[in-house]
Amino acid sequence: MAEYSLSPTGEKFQLPEQKNYLEEFERLKMLVNSQRALRREIVVVMGVGFVGAVMAAVVADAQDGKGNPTKFVIGMQRPSTRSFWKIPLINRGLSPISTEDPEVALMIERCVNKKKTLTATFTYDALKLADVVIVDVQCDYLKESLGNVRSGQAEMKALEESFEIIAQNISPETLVLIETTVAPGTTEQIAYPIIKKMFRKRSIESDPVLAHSYERVMPGKNYVSSIRDFWRVCSGVNEEATRRVVKLLSEVLDTEKFPLTVLDKPIESETAKIVENSYRATILAFLDEWSLFAERNGVDLIKVINAIKVRPTHSNIIFPGPGIGGYCLPKDGGLGVWAYRHIHGFEDEIFKITPLAIDINDTRALHVAQLTRDALRNMGRPIASAEILVLGASYREDVGDTRYSGSELIVRRLTEMGAELRVHDPYVLHWWEFEKQDEYPASSDSLKRFFRGQEKLKDLRIEQDLKKALDGVDALIFAVRHQPYLNLDPDEVVQSAGGPIAVIDCFGILNDDKIKRYFELGCEVKGLGRGHVKRIKDQVREEKEQMETRRVM
Ligand SMILES: NC(=O)c1ccc[n+]([C@@H]2O[C@H](COP(=O)([O-])OP(=O)(O)OC[C@H]3O[C@@H](n4cnc5c(N)ncnc54)[C@H](O)[C@@H]3O)[C@@H](O)[C@H]2O)c1
Repeated sequence: MAEYSLSPTGEKFQLPEQKNYLEEFERLKMLVNSQRALRREIVVVMGVGFVGAVMAAVVADAQDGKGNPTKFVIGMQRPSTRSFWKIPLINRGLSPISTEDPEVALMIERCVNKKKTLTATFTYDALKLADVVIVDVQCDYLKESLGNVRSGQAEMKALEESFEIIAQNISPETLVLIETTVAPGTTEQIAYPIIKKMFRKRSIESDPVLAHSYERVMPGKNYVSSIRDFWRVCSGVNEEATRRVVKLLSEVLDTEKFPLTVLDKPIESETAKIVENSYRATILAFLDEWSLFAERNGVDLIKVINAIKVRPTHSNIIFPGPGIGGYCLPKDGGLGVWAYRHIHGFEDEIFKITPLAIDINDTRALHVAQLTRDALRNMGRPIASAEILVLGASYREDVGDTRYSGSELIVRRLTEMGAELRVHDPYVLHWWEFEKQDEYPASSDSLKRFFRGQEKLKDLRIEQDLKKALDGVDALIFAVRHQPYLNLDPDEVVQSAGGPIAVIDCFGILNDDKIKRYFELGCEVKGLGRGHVKRIKDQVREEKEQMETRRVM
């Protein structure tokens, strides 16, 4: 029976059958022959996900001093039911990623339809045609319990399979650039031996030309420029590999303005990525305890942070919101801790801060459920059976990426507590973590496994009409700082809801005037790190009492 892959907009694409592979390889060979005649280098990007799709377009858009394209890019993607749809979409010139940065869609359209320097395919045979392979497949980290990253492990399968497939297909001179965030040691101690062994089987005696350079892409408003116009770190397994990776990156990125840092060995480049993200995870986790301190002692942590930020040495202090999601920060430190034992063979526990930071970040969202329960309780409404609307499903503002978002944990915990959940997000059409919770991210990986009573969440759909979503709710949770939520008017919100509600601010979205207005309208307000709301509540009560007294007199 034919299998299909469904795009986020619901379009169905039939997965390729055996007979399609030959035709597809012929198509690629013809394209590559004509592109080689134009003296263009052939670059295969393996994995066209959040990173690979945009990196592929950046490379395809590269040109020489005379404005002539220098590369022809083949984005290659496994034809899985989950991901195949990205290939036909790219081949129409459409971006498989929904983002605030208009340049993503424009660049893909330009490279596919006008410059004709970008195509996408499902066949690994593309690797046979490559001068360069850029690896952008995922390397996941599977946690066995919530809030204990140490008990998890790196999922090396997709990556190891990719190295095997690459080694079976490439020519000996092909540069293989690993961009995936990997456990430090992977390039030299996992990729290199896999490729070397396969080369020997193929009677190739030369060393693989293998390098590592990690992505610092920030999905969001500056998606493209966070790849193209940004500093990079790289390293090769030998001099030739280093020379080739420096040459490639200098040709496709703006390395004049944003110079490359070339490190001695790939393990240094790999470690740089893990330390960079662990540092970020740690400064966010550090504020979790101060957030609780603030809530319990009448302090507004948002104002405290803004006061500290003024000092130039402390300008990167940031408020953590309801947990730290995204694909990278929740897992990258885990890859480092895992590598120390499982790649390098050490037995002792040297890591304290890195795993603790991830554990704190992974459970911070659960506190939002407590705040919601308390706010509703203050209004005399039980949480069980309360209708609750979560504003924002993605992990950060103005993007459609829902991976490991704090909102997912909020929804799961409140559902476990008996509440009925609704969700609104202008950037997310389908929240696959719920709709396909039995198979996405993989059958055993859903966060569902840490909570009870989750079955009905399969039916959770993202509401696009905010007014409709608000109708009849008991509580409203501001979970993400999406642009459309910043200016919501309390009077309109309460009117749409049909009366006073509990309002939970997870991200410093409400200013004091709005908090005051919600109280005046009879709402209850609570917020992560926002201990001062109690003062505003008392002030509103006093003002009301004074008005009452004046009226009676
Ligand atoms: N998303 C980010 O913001 C970000 C930022 C910096 C670094 N990174 C790193 O970049 C890497 C890729 O992340 P992503 O967000 O693009 O992941 P992703 O899951 O969106 O993309 C990975 C893609 O690779 C495909 N794939 C898996 N195995 C394959 C195979 N054998 N052949 C071809 N394709 C295959 C998957 O189907 C998927 O489309 C990760 O290591 C991640 O940590 C991500």
